[in-house]
Amino acid sequence: MPGSSEIIKSVNGYQILDSRNNPTVACRIVSSGGKEYTFKVPSGASTGDMEAVELRDCDKKHYGGKGVLRAVANLNDKIAPMVKGLPIATPQEDFDRMLIEKDGTPNKSKLGANAILAASAAYAGLQAGIEGVELWRHFSNSNVSLPVPQFNVLNAGRHAETGFEVQETLVMPAGAKSFSEAMEMCSNVWHSLKSMLNKMGHSTGRGDEGGFVNPFKSVEETAHSVLEAIEKAGYVPGRQVMLGFDPASSEIFGKDLMGDEYDPKDMTYHFCGKRYAPEEMSGFWSDAAKRYKIASLEDGMAQNDIEGWKLLTKELGRTTQLVLDDCICTNPQLIRKFISYGIGNADLIKLNQIGTVSETIEAMELGKEDGRSNIVSHRSGETESDFLGNFAMSPLVDQIKSGSSGGERNAKYNTLLMIEQDLGSEAAYSGVKAFPKRVRAHLS
Ligand code: PGA
Ligand code: ZN
Repeated sequence: MPGSSEIIKSVNGYQILDSRNNPTVACRIVSSGGKEYTFKVPSGASTGDMEAVELRDCDKKHYGGKGVLRAVANLNDKIAPMVKGLPIATPQEDFDRMLIEKDGTPNKSKLGANAILAASAAYAGLQAGIEGVELWRHFSNSNVSLPVPQFNVLNAGRHAETGFEVQETLVMPAGAKSFSEAMEMCSNVWHSLKSMLNKMGHSTGRGDEGGFVNPFKSVEETAHSVLEAIEKAGYVPGRQVMLGFDPASSEIFGKDLMGDEYDPKDMTYHFCGKRYAPEEMSGFWSDAAKRYKIASLEDGMAQNDIEGWKLLTKELGRTTQLVLDDCICTNPQLIRKFISYGIGNADLIKLNQIGTVSETIEAMELGKEDGRSNIVSHRSGETESDFLGNFAMSPLVDQIKSGSSGGERNAKYNTLLMIEQDLGSEAAYSGVKAFPKRVRAHLS
């Protein structure tokens, strides 16, 4: 791109539907030379309190208030005129800084993080086009390994209305030799679980992230079934294919799963019909991690339960990947804070939690400097965008979580399969190295 004389010709936002049939923002950006890129913004359901604001219309007459026409208008009337004519040699950080300053709020509530991310990510796509490279090369250097997938095979919590609290049950084929073998392992385990559910007489309908609606009512039954599905698919659980959970615990701390009212005085987890004090919840997961060889546990404790997180990290921080999601919201300031507390050992990274590409990269750099792992993630409301699959080739990324099954989920994995194919014999797979330094010895 150095020397490129191209400028931004137009930025055009519009409203589209995500995988849950809710409106979201799309942004098409075009250069003076006729290159273009379109980005489509995802949307979460179990969101952290400190996420950048997703601007919605709150006009009950349309889409039950979920329309995003205000964000689209901000994109077209405020962002587009500001960036039109800008040289495409402008670095991403400078482009993003303009958006952040135009918004002027700490949480992007004025323009909306959905409007801001749409422009920021579309700009990255356009830059790659002008550079004449595939998008993944725009984020990558030559010696990069493909990430380990976190494949969400059973959906519950806020992603399927079963009443069972544990949102995600994940399989991680860390023992594969290549990314394509990893995806084959995921697919085989998924089919093996499907036939087990069929034989048990359960539905094989899917939840928001493409995994089966979890018919089980306990961690024990869920873990046993998935470990059996791994074995039946011909793999050794814990070695070839590992088990992970995301109980999204902020959703059950001081409230019931579907109860909207959070009571800050109620310091208990409402879990499986019982109340658990933080030390009991931490003890529950420590025990389960040992019993079922859990390799990765995300949001094992709630965003407002720092003491609980300290306990869990003390118990499992050297044996299990402990992933922070709701606590950090991909926010560099929060990641700094949690690193200083010594909590967790890995970070979930979602572009729309912070709202720009460059702040997302900054968030990942902080974790890497501390020996933590970065897991780039989709949202439960997704689009067919393949941006995340390309972004996952950044040398800062170790793992990718993109659900299982369905075009919007597999778009990310399929992009990585294409990249692996293009790389040929140079393609390397992260395997166990994708895990945080502190736990690798225990897992391999
Ligand atoms: P969300 O959840 O995309 O529905 O917010 C994903 C997660 O908790 O990891
Ligand atoms: Zn999560």
